[in-house]
Amino acid sequence: MVAFIKSLFRPKLARTVSVQPFGRHFDIRGSETILESALNNQVPFPHNCTVGTCGACKCRLVSGRVKAITDFGYTLSKQEIEAGYILACQAVPLDEETTIEIVSSGINAPPPETFTGKISRTEALTHDIMRVELKLDRPLQFVAGQYANIKHAAVERSRSYSFADAPEQKGSDKITFMIRKVPGGEFTEALFAGSLTDLSFDIESPHGDFYLRTSTAPMICIAGGSGLAPLLSILEDARKKRVERSCTVLFGARTTADLYALDQIATIGQGWKGHFNFIPILSHEPEDSPWAGARGLVTESIIPSLNREPHDKAEMYMCGPPGMIDRAIEVATQHGLGLEQIHYDKFTDQSTAAPR
Ligand code: FES
Repeated sequence: MVAFIKSLFRPKLARTVSVQPFGRHFDIRGSETILESALNNQVPFPHNCTVGTCGACKCRLVSGRVKAITDFGYTLSKQEIEAGYILACQAVPLDEETTIEIVSSGINAPPPETFTGKISRTEALTHDIMRVELKLDRPLQFVAGQYANIKHAAVERSRSYSFADAPEQKGSDKITFMIRKVPGGEFTEALFAGSLTDLSFDIESPHGDFYLRTSTAPMICIAGGSGLAPLLSILEDARKKRVERSCTVLFGARTTADLYALDQIATIGQGWKGHFNFIPILSHEPEDSPWAGARGLVTESIIPSLNREPHDKAEMYMCGPPGMIDRAIEVATQHGLGLEQIHYDKFTDQSTAAPR
């Protein structure tokens, strides 16, 4: 199906792509995407999923037009698209000359490698979120906020999960994720049934450019569901490093039964250098429950949080489903935040991925 759709977009012109800041040029053959052609020409283009869901190949279209195989809007925000960002793995050039710019995130992480590992411990955090620890064949180094691709021989494709713990300086052979059960999802159904315990996994990591930027600006962290994992990693790492910043954490969940890691957050808050405010917000808690905390959508608490900070300086760090991230970016940019102040990891699974 994808090949058929791509064939419809196949332009007749000879087409060249220039990549800034490398100053590299390459020709596009047939219905190749920019990413396919870049990799075929040994251009070190950032990428991971190659199917338009991870955002790793995000770049800025400087000149020329491209056709999107799948809508960039599944992964990029409306504001990013308006600012000219595209996904190279989903972009087929239409004009004779196209120029794109790779915008480096500045992350200082080792290059990805493949490790092998087995599940060494699991712990149910809620009815549908599990903490999963894997023991690896050797230590893995990553930057807090990054993720790993996990695969075993019995499943067709890898799954991406963010590290939930702070990294060790010299790496660790134990890594931890918080994995949400996706109804009908082949991998998570098997995981929650306990049938993956003795299997060997391939773990490709580290990936991702979601990390804490060096700054003293107030932080607004927003998590939805299992999106708390990379934020816990970032916050725990910052606490250990004695980073001094004002920090507000907004955690969106459906009901009290969906709240988890509260002890871990309390420990981070107690050791935090600076003001630390944790606000759980429930969207579907029954009216007659004794819950006395915040209710509604987590995105409705962004403006009150920004109003408590000098928001021309604040930074937002977010991880959660696409709808939450898109709405949060919309709210924050309308309130005066620039895209450069907003950092996010938009996770997709079978329930949120772009149709193919
Ligand atoms: S490599 Fe393009 S979105 Fe993942």
